[in-house]
This record gives sequence, structure tokens and C-alpha cells, in this order.
Amino acid sequence: MIEIKKNIYWTGIKDWDLRRFHGHELSTHRGSTYNSYLIKDKKTVLVDTVWDPYKEEFAERLEKEVGINSIDMIVINHIEPDHGGSLGYIMSRIPDTPIFCTKNGAEIIKRHFHKDWNFNIVKTGDSVSIGEYELVFVEMPMLHWPDSLLTYVKGANLVLSNDAFGQHYSPSSLFNDEVDECELYQEAIKYYANILSPFTPLIKKKVEQIKALNLPIDMIAPSHGVIWRKDPMQIVEKYYEWAQEYNEGYVVIIYDTMYNATKKMAEAIGEGLAKQGVPYKLFNNSITDQSDILTELFKAKGMIIGSCTVNNTVLRSIAGLLDEIKGHKFKGKFGAAYGSYGWSGEAQNIIHEHLKAAGIKVIAEPIQFKYTPTEEELAKCIEFGENFAKEMNK
Ligand code: FEO
Repeated sequence: MIEIKKNIYWTGIKDWDLRRFHGHELSTHRGSTYNSYLIKDKKTVLVDTVWDPYKEEFAERLEKEVGINSIDMIVINHIEPDHGGSLGYIMSRIPDTPIFCTKNGAEIIKRHFHKDWNFNIVKTGDSVSIGEYELVFVEMPMLHWPDSLLTYVKGANLVLSNDAFGQHYSPSSLFNDEVDECELYQEAIKYYANILSPFTPLIKKKVEQIKALNLPIDMIAPSHGVIWRKDPMQIVEKYYEWAQEYNEGYVVIIYDTMYNATKKMAEAIGEGLAKQGVPYKLFNNSITDQSDILTELFKAKGMIIGSCTVNNTVLRSIAGLLDEIKGHKFKGKFGAAYGSYGWSGEAQNIIHEHLKAAGIKVIAEPIQFKYTPTEEELAKCIEFGENFAKEMNK
């Protein structure tokens, strides 16, 4: 255990090996951590647990350091199995221990463990004194589950924010002032883009609410990655920025291809963007990590997506990506479609319509060419890129 504030300890797990999360949905190039916290006040309070595969290691440490029987209450800020997975193992030892959680939290715990434990339902503004410290609760619904809760430790000026403000990142240090800031922000924005961006309107309101409380905050301790100790409000301000049609001004050109005709078009479109001074990044979707692609799309101002037509539709990697774009509900992005074909040529319109349905501002009619594009057709792709740049920035 590591003391992060007087009598408050990090008692989590560093999962250096983790490379896929949420099954195989999300890539975690730098591992992750499952941050659980223990408060040794007049009452001994465990806040969140760790992922089920680590339950024995977690419980052994708690037994050695504090004694599981001495835990007086458990706060479950969020019951997704990466944080709540070990709850059943701990509760099998101390089954009468009160669990403080939201109403939704209790319902989900019952669905996961099929137990009716001693639930103490909390709402925003509720508090409980544990001795020197007081725990104050703030509901965080859909940030990112219906049960999500934030616990403020009054007296320690400590925010235990669970998933909010976290990162899938497992460096050697626990604190933001002791890690590579560039890596930290790469992981923080990737986390936001992939996990939180669908809930952006709620996040904006919740961040406004947290800022309006004007609480003294020395430290924000999420349940993944590092603890924000140096200038902790920096990540709250970043979330506010990310929740407001955030972009970094560039365009992402994505393609999938069978014989490189669509790739040639992608490169020519990029040439057109560059001629108008718009930076771009270009990705072959079928060989690029999808979590990284979604991060790039979140950061981009525009997305130009292409596929050849096969079996009257788009290639499968583009079909999957279009669904992801719809699900992530990106705000304020511009888009367009392009493609190549041999005979039927449906891909361009499928992409065009999917982008519109996903709320992307489609600012160009789709462009496509038959088989390998000629020099004249590639010149039209350059022009397409130039026109996209002009329209996006007008
Ligand atoms: Fe880190 Fe929503 O669990």
C-alpha cells in the first residue's frame, strides 16, 4: 500500500501486461492499473476493489496490511468488473459489511453477484463521517455507467473519481508529476475518446457542476492510471475542453483497399488538403489499431473515408468503423466519402449516408473512380481534397 494522503492509501494493482480491455475492444499499449483506496480513519473504509483475476493478490495485501475483518464499510463508486470484480471475494469474508453505492449501483451489484448485501444507497450531496474525514458523494450517471459515483474525502481535499479523469496507463510512479507528460496525455485523451466521448453532453454539465462546487481539491485519484497531484484541476479543465466539439484542426484520411486504387485516391486527396495548408494523417484502416483510429478521429476536425466496393458494399473494416463512428457520437466534425469500384460501385454512397446518419457534417459529394484511377482522375482527387479543405475552414 502507498500512502497518498494522511491515513489514505492506494491499494490497487498495476497490470503491466494488459494489452486489450473490454474483452478485445480497446487497446491498452501501456497497460493499466485498477486503483483501489483504503482510508484508515476511526472507520476503515475500502473504496472500490480490483479486477477479478487479481482478487487473491488484492485480498492478501489487505489482510496483511489492515486485516479484512477490520474493514467497516465499502464504497463502490462503480461496479464494472475491473473495479468491482473482487467485491464478491471480499464480501465472502465480511458479508454484513455495509456497501455505500448509488441505487443503480446496488441493482447492478445484485445482477453481477446475485446477493442482497447491506446496501446503503447514496445520492448527490449525501455524506458520512468516518472520523477525521467525511465522505461526500456526487452521482456521476453515465460517466460512464448508470451507477457511476464520485467520492470526495472532505478534510483530505481528495477526489476519488473512479473512471472519470483516468487513463489506461501503468507507469512506475503513481503520480502525474513523476511520469512522462506526453505519454500521460496520449493515454488520457485516448481514454476519453474511446470510452467517454459518447456521453460528451453529460460530461460538460457534470464538469460545470463540479467546478461550481468550488471544493478545495489537492488531488484527483481516478481508478485507472496516475493520480493527479500536481495542478489536479488541469484534467478537469481538459475534460471541459474535450467536451466542447474539440478538434486539433487536422483531417484524417482513412481507406481500405484491395489492389491500392483507393489508396492512390487517398494519397491524392491528402495532396489536395496539403495544398490548402491543412495537415492530414492517413491510415489504412484494416491494419491500424481501431482504438488509435478512434482517438485520431476524436482529435481531427475532418474525416475523409474511402473503400472499394465489394459484394455491393464496403470492405468489412470500413463497415465496422462506420458503426463505431455512429456509436461514439462525435460532435462538430466534417466528413466526406470516396472510393473505387469495378462494376456496381455502392461503397461511396454507403459511406456518405453513414457519415450523415452519424451526425458528421458531410461537406462534399462522394467521389469514386472505376478500377485504377488515371492521372486525370487523381487530379480530380487533389481538387476534391482542396475543396474539402476550403469548405471545412470557411
Ligand atoms: Fe474502469 Fe467503467 O470501468
